[in-house]
Amino acid sequence: MTQTLPTTNAGIAQAAQLLAQGELVAFPTETVYGLGGDARSDTAVARIFEAKARPRFNPLIVHLPDLEAAREVAVFDATAERVASAFWPGPLTLVLPLRPSARLSPLVTADLPSVAIRVPAHPVARQLLRAFGAPVAAPSANPSGKVSPTRAEHVLAGLSGRIAAVVDGGACAVGLESTILGLTGAPELLRPGGIPSEAIEACLGQPLSAASDGAKPTAPGQLRSHYAPRATLRLNVMEPEAGEFWLGFGPDAGQAALNLSDSGDLVEAAANLFHFLREADARAEGRIGVSPIPEKGLGRAINDRLRRAAAPRG
Ligand code: TXA
Ligand code: MG
Repeated sequence: MTQTLPTTNAGIAQAAQLLAQGELVAFPTETVYGLGGDARSDTAVARIFEAKARPRFNPLIVHLPDLEAAREVAVFDATAERVASAFWPGPLTLVLPLRPSARLSPLVTADLPSVAIRVPAHPVARQLLRAFGAPVAAPSANPSGKVSPTRAEHVLAGLSGRIAAVVDGGACAVGLESTILGLTGAPELLRPGGIPSEAIEACLGQPLSAASDGAKPTAPGQLRSHYAPRATLRLNVMEPEAGEFWLGFGPDAGQAALNLSDSGDLVEAAANLFHFLREADARAEGRIGVSPIPEKGLGRAINDRLRRAAAPRG
């Protein structure tokens, strides 16, 4: 059952408590409703991907109540400070270098060294972010491939029964997603949205480059800076070869050196995936064999990531 919570102090307090318990709560922002989860919790973030049935672990936007809190999650240079002071709170997302000390789940950033962050203007979003007191990962609150929700009813139509609650703050004013500005190199428009690119160019005093292919954020596995293991990966391994480090899944892989989920739980496996890939890479002597992962639910996103890691690179 998905609860509908009012925007009263009690409703917001309950929403914050659910987030603290690792549950998912949809909430209004000025752009669209976000599907929020604790950005530091691997399990909460894995549940976001599960609830949306996303076929890929593309990176999510992290929401913060103000610039000061945002500075603890990402590194702001002079350019970032300038656009942030000009447009926050508001429908602008900045992609900046991640601070490892923020301890975000690697699922939020798809294990990238950068992070997308935004300070929303909607009073209910800000109140909830303050009450929760930690970064909230939130993609739009719709099943993957469906249109973004701008009312609580839209959220329920798509996700009822799959999330703990929705805070009903009425209709969203902007109605389309935030503009995403990449600032890890030359300023780059990664996604058009609520803030026109001309306004950003005027603020920066320079033109924005359109996203180059190598930076296409919809395919994080293809990003230049994306983490790829040193070791070679062999998939669908039921029995490892000699000298192969076995990254297992489920009860059939009882002998595995590491098991993504002993019980075969896909949410647990997704939550462990990036951590265990790194650990396997550190411990393996050149070769990793990975158990078959069922191609259903979160298994699709896990397999997508594994196939990218296993693909020959040049
Ligand atoms: O208006 C919005 O931005 C809404 C509301 C809920 O805030 N949120 C939203 O979040 O649209 P989401 O998670 O669906 O947006 C994710 C997109 C990715 O598909 C990618 O384009 C970009 O943000 N992104 C996230 N992290 C990135 C990174 N490290 N590098 C490049 N792009 C990134
Ligand atoms: Mg979306």
